[in-house]
Amino acid sequence: MRAARDLSRRHQLHQTLELVTMPAAYDRAAELRALDATLSGVRGLVASGATNVPRIFHVHGEGEWEGGSPDQQVSSSGDQEPSAAAATVPVIDIGGADRAAVAEAVRRAAEEWGFFQVTGHGVPPAAMAAAVGAARAFHEADGGEGSDKARIYSREPGRAIKYHCNFDLYQSPVANWRDTLYLRVAPDPPAPADMPEICRDELFEYAEQVKNLGNTLFELLSEGLGLKPSYLTDIECNQGQIILCHYYPPCPQPELAIGTSRHSDSGFLTILLQDDIGGLQIFHEDRWVDVTPTPGAFIVNVGDLLQLITNDKFKSVEHRVVAKNAGPRVSIACFFSTHFHPISTRMYGPIKELLSDENPPLYRETLVRDYLTRYYAIGLDGKAKTALSDFRL
Ligand code: OGA
Ligand code: NI
Repeated sequence: MRAARDLSRRHQLHQTLELVTMPAAYDRAAELRALDATLSGVRGLVASGATNVPRIFHVHGEGEWEGGSPDQQVSSSGDQEPSAAAATVPVIDIGGADRAAVAEAVRRAAEEWGFFQVTGHGVPPAAMAAAVGAARAFHEADGGEGSDKARIYSREPGRAIKYHCNFDLYQSPVANWRDTLYLRVAPDPPAPADMPEICRDELFEYAEQVKNLGNTLFELLSEGLGLKPSYLTDIECNQGQIILCHYYPPCPQPELAIGTSRHSDSGFLTILLQDDIGGLQIFHEDRWVDVTPTPGAFIVNVGDLLQLITNDKFKSVEHRVVAKNAGPRVSIACFFSTHFHPISTRMYGPIKELLSDENPPLYRETLVRDYLTRYYAIGLDGKAKTALSDFRL
C-alpha cells in the first residue's frame, strides 16, 4: 500500500518535472500549479532527483526582473564576490554588565545597519540546536498526498499553522528555492495537537526562549530611542509572534535561482537563527554584505513597522538569501508582529515623543493588518521597499 503510494507520488513528481523542464511553450501559471500540486515543495523536487532548476525559479527569466538593477542578480557560483573586509554586521554581547553601553550599541546598529548579531543572550545552545534539528526533520519528512505536510499545506493568511513552498508563489515574478513551515505562536498559542508532532516540543520551547529575548531587545531599543524601557512593549510591539522555519534544499544550478528574493521584513522586529551554511546577505551602503554564520549568535533586524514608528530612525534593511549548491540550509525566523491575528484596532504611526519641528512625521498611521495586507499583495517582488513607501506622507 505504502509502496504503491510512493510509486504514484514518484510518478506525479516526474510528471511535474517533465512539465516544468519542457523547453517550448512556457505556461508559468500551469507550472506553478503543478509544483503546488505535489504538496512537497522544492524539497520534493530535489528528493525526486531534479538536476535542473525549473524555469519558474529562474532569476533571469524573460521580463521577470524588468526594471530591476544588476544587484538583484546573483553571481555565478551563488556566492557573491567577497565583501569588503571592513563591512561586517555588528556583533553585540547583550549580556554585558554595562547596560547603557549595550543600549547604545543596539541603537547605533539599528540606525546604521538595521541588522546586528547578538551573543550573551542567555538562550541555551541546546534549545537552539534542537529547534534547527526539529525544523530540518519536519522538512525532510515525506510530503505528498496523505502526509503530515499535506495536512497543513496552505497559504491562507489567516491560518495559524501551515506549510508551503513560497507564500507568494502566484504573485512574485520568481519562485524562491525554499520551503517554509509557518507557525503563529502568540498571542494565542496553537493547540499542541495542531502542531506537527515531529517538531512540536522543540519549537514550543524555542518560541518561549525567543519571546524572552524579544522582550529584552524591545527594552534595549526603547532605551536607545531615549524612551522608557517598557515603551515598545507597552504599545504591544511584542504581542504577535510568528515563527518561520525555512528549508533551502541544495540547488543543482545555484546561479539560476535565489533562496529568498530581496525584501525587507514587514513586522516590528525579526530574530533569526541560521545554521552554518550561510547565504544571507544584507544590502548595506550599495552593496551586498554577507551575514556570516556566527555559532551561538542570533541575527536581529528591524522590520518595516519599527522603521515606520521610529520615523526612519531605525532602518528596515533589505536582505536576501542566495541559493547554494551546499546544504540543505535551515533557518528559523521569528517575526514580532500580529500580522492578521488578532485583529487589533491599535493604530501605529511615528512615535509622538520622537517628533518635533525638525523631525515631522514621515508616515501616516496604519493598522498592522492594513500594512500586512499591502505587503502580502506585493509579495517579494525583488524591488525596493514598495509596501513601506506606500505609507509615506
Ligand atoms: C525572512 C528571511 C532569511 C533566512 O524570513 O524574512 O529573510 O536566512 N529569512 O532565511
Ligand atoms: Ni527577511
